Amino acid sequence: MSDLKNLLLEIDGYVAIVRLHRPAVLNALNLELMDELVATLDSLDRDENIRAIVLAGSEKAFAAGADIKEMASATAVDMLYRDQFSKWDRIRKIKKPIIAAVSGFALGGGCELMMHCDIVIASETARIGQPEINIGVMPGAGGTQRLTRAIGKVRAMEMVLTGKFITAQEAFDAGLVNKVVPVEFFLEEAVRLAQEIASKPPVAVRLAKEAVLKSFDTTIEMGLEFERKNFYLLFASEDMKEGMAAFVEKRTAEWKGK
Ligand code: CAA
Repeated sequence: MSDLKNLLLEIDGYVAIVRLHRPAVLNALNLELMDELVATLDSLDRDENIRAIVLAGSEKAFAAGADIKEMASATAVDMLYRDQFSKWDRIRKIKKPIIAAVSGFALGGGCELMMHCDIVIASETARIGQPEINIGVMPGAGGTQRLTRAIGKVRAMEMVLTGKFITAQEAFDAGLVNKVVPVEFFLEEAVRLAQEIASKPPVAVRLAKEAVLKSFDTTIEMGLEFERKNFYLLFASEDMKEGMAAFVEKRTAEWKGK
């Protein structure tokens, strides 16, 4: 991960801060950046010293979408073989919590990347949208599905069919972001939240994230069954014994991640 060209990586205790870094093009997501991002997230997911990940852009842009210049002359068959969106499935499978810190533009693939994250902190300056319609295409990295589940059909339809951007406050009101903060604090607040989650027992965090995500692709019956199994599984963890003992003994628990 030492020769990253399109990302900045910083480690703060148990938290990794990954920043998209193509400032000249508002962090447009080209193939090279996406390859680096997926490899970096995969590697952080395997790193037992990391418990939560913050994914951010700059103040000006989280990401202005897929790189239009890279796609402009592609044929359908080029796109089929390039299969660029399949690597996004690997982001969906990251097991550690990912907190998006979103400021400025989060458009097209940028909005879709934000929606791959588990929690979203937005700056007051965030402008969020799926403007692909304006360039003759449509969302391709999950926007039609994730946005609809997140904010409902009529609001998603309006965003996807008009391409209009919504403000951070509108995104908050629609349930697309968790919190809106002044621009100078967007990264700090996301890191603070990541540190808070990183202070929780890691096995429980992992199984809880997995169970919440399961609700998107299963029936309530199967989802409840899945939740129950994860709940029971946690009784095999040392951290569960420690957590409950610490409660009874009125002391602070010390997590081992085991
Ligand atoms: N791809 C490639 N380059 C981009 C880009 C993108 N998505 N977005 C911005 N840039 C580049 C611009 O071409 C420009 O480069 P030059 O200086 O070389 O001309 C630079 O970034 C700065 O952009 P602007 O001058 O346009 O800045 P602005 O402040 O006037 O406008 C903006 C900002 C409204 C975000 C505008 O850049 C814009 O509309 N960008 C495209 C947004 C978009 O359509 N995104 C969807 C892409 S398709 C997609 O994402 C498919 C999918 O589902 C994954």
